[in-house]
Amino acid sequence: MPNTSVMLSGIELSNPLIPASGTFGFGHEFTGLYDINVLGSIALKGTTREPRIGNPLPRIAECESGMINSVGLQNPGVHAVIDEELPKLAQVFHKPAIANISGFSVEDYAYCAALFDNDPRIGWLEINVSCPNVSHGGMSFGTDPASAAAVTRAVRAVAKKPVFIKLTPNVTDIASIARACADAGADGISLINTLLGMRIDLKKRAPVIANKMGGFSGRAILPVALRMVWQVYEAVDIPIIGMGGVSCAEDVIEMMLAGATAVQVGAENLVNPWACPQIIAALPGAMAKYGIDNLSDITGGAHHG
Ligand code: SIN
Repeated sequence: MPNTSVMLSGIELSNPLIPASGTFGFGHEFTGLYDINVLGSIALKGTTREPRIGNPLPRIAECESGMINSVGLQNPGVHAVIDEELPKLAQVFHKPAIANISGFSVEDYAYCAALFDNDPRIGWLEINVSCPNVSHGGMSFGTDPASAAAVTRAVRAVAKKPVFIKLTPNVTDIASIARACADAGADGISLINTLLGMRIDLKKRAPVIANKMGGFSGRAILPVALRMVWQVYEAVDIPIIGMGGVSCAEDVIEMMLAGATAVQVGAENLVNPWACPQIIAALPGAMAKYGIDNLSDITGGAHHG
């Protein structure tokens, strides 16, 4: 039987599959569909210091092979996540989860990180410096190496748990941003978040999305994600959680060969809520087809010097 387990910063995952933040709520919402303990872990909905109602509607636009969202970090705030959402998740999920943290200042990130770092239900912190849907903070921290490093340092100073920095693809030099985060103490890099995009409503002659632009995700972005995971793997020596357009077991293997240690599935959960368990079930067959005994052996396996 092929071995699907991987190690992510010292914590074993039974398989590398993790639903991506923003596509899986706080996890417990999916328990009516399947036993979520089949998942490697869960990246929780992006959380901010204060509750947020998010951006005005409409904030979703459908596209060929993908979608655009401009949710705007709607969430109940870090205290409600810890006091209300995590206890519900703990009743049904018996593995460490990933806290995904967004902020509007360096202090915001550190504040939420310190709280999640103290929570035994959280295994890793994923620091989102890549949300394209807010007018300040978010992606603006992730498009400049010095700002990304400043957030990383502030979180590192308050956290003992592994810190992954989630990067935006909306940059010209992803390697320099990843290197700045690694030098500032990041334990790993998550990428890619969504690509800034838009649609126009022909009848209204106006943008479909109230906020005009949003983040494009879905199957169409897989090649961009693979390219960036590849570049970051060549630039840093810390683990990568790869994501962007993953929809099948073969995509997981491809992402790992490019350099990922674990793999998140995002928009595909919105198309097919059973996508993650279906991909997990298909992994052993795909591994056998490509002669892989241990999935953990293939990370970066397409780099040949
Ligand atoms: C959102 O809530 O706007 C999406 C989060 C993100 O893209 O980081």
